[in-house]
Amino acid sequence: MVNVGIVGATGLIGQTFLKVMEERKFPVNNLYLFASSKSKGKKITFNNKEYEVEELNENSFDKPIDIALFSAGGTISKKYAPLAKEKGIIVVDNSSAWRMEPWVPLIVPEVNKEAVEKHQGIISNPNCSTIQSVIPLKPLHDKYGLKRVVFSTYQSVSGSGLSGLMDLEKGLTSTYHNKYPHPIAFNVLPHIDDFLDNGYTKEEMKMIEETKKILNDPNIKITATTVRVPVRYGHAVSANIELGKPFELEDVYDLLSNFEGIEVLDDPANNVYPMPILAEGKDKVYVGRIRRDFSVENGLNIWIVADNCRKGAATNTIQIAELLINRRF
Ligand SMILES: NC(=O)c1ccc[n+]([C@@H]2O[C@H](COP(=O)([O-])OP(=O)(O)OC[C@H]3O[C@@H](n4cnc5c(N)ncnc54)[C@H](OP(=O)(O)O)[C@@H]3O)[C@@H](O)[C@H]2O)c1
Repeated sequence: MVNVGIVGATGLIGQTFLKVMEERKFPVNNLYLFASSKSKGKKITFNNKEYEVEELNENSFDKPIDIALFSAGGTISKKYAPLAKEKGIIVVDNSSAWRMEPWVPLIVPEVNKEAVEKHQGIISNPNCSTIQSVIPLKPLHDKYGLKRVVFSTYQSVSGSGLSGLMDLEKGLTSTYHNKYPHPIAFNVLPHIDDFLDNGYTKEEMKMIEETKKILNDPNIKITATTVRVPVRYGHAVSANIELGKPFELEDVYDLLSNFEGIEVLDDPANNVYPMPILAEGKDKVYVGRIRRDFSVENGLNIWIVADNCRKGAATNTIQIAELLINRRF
């Protein structure tokens, strides 16, 4: 049994942590819930027991916590994860704050669970679109090598937390928008996270850099366009791939169907393909529209869908925490 702290316990992902922990019978002994001053005193039920939310502060980690799951944004993680680490607490962080630090493992258990062995107190959970994308890329990379990947994403508003969902809900009947620079209802925004000097957004660079880190191959050529769409839950990714060797489509089907965490949904004649409404509330990564790209040598197109709040965030984090428990931290 472990003592668990959750930072950002009132948020969309914090709440999903608790749900996934209950479902997976995560062996919680004591549970400590933290959020902003706004949520201080709020009651949250976990495993039929009521817990009170505490305001996060510099003394929060004086408690006997073994593992702290952070999901309150990058600024909070930058400041508080080192404080927790100093107290001997292992942090699994959902924000982008620590992901590209060379000493911080960036883990998708189906792909690189061995990285947990080298942790030094902070482990990062990758970006949501990256998690669902690297899972089907892994068996293809192992067998054929990935030469180049072009990602185009269709990301739901829950990827921006509760305020993203609010922009969509209110925007259905008004021109309200607060989280995004434009209305998201009945619209599509080619803009996720801040723009950088190179013309890409931070979200696009996360997909490019994190994919290379998780697959442990800096030589894969990757580009990305990340797009926000008016969908509540579930991100979709089109991956256009150039493999390093000739392949048979049948073999690609087999590789993907037999890989842990993937369900292939690919029967276009019967209108069967992955969609966000099918993935919502589930932990699998759904892959379909598997077909050759005839425009390049060894080209392949796949369509990947997963629930961003579950496999793209909470479930992956809890799986990482389970890896820690298996090796007794
Ligand atoms: N949504 C996704 O699909 C997704 C996927 C992967 C990663 N993430 C990452 O997960 C993190 C949280 O996302 P979310 O979607 O859960 O956002 P959210 O619904 O907006 O929740 C944010 C959480 O952070 C807490 N918080 C805000 N300011 C705080 C402060 N000063 N001190 C302590 N706690 C504070 C909030 O507490 P109050 O309720 O008290 O304000 C709330 O619990 C972000 O880093 C995000 O990038 C999200």
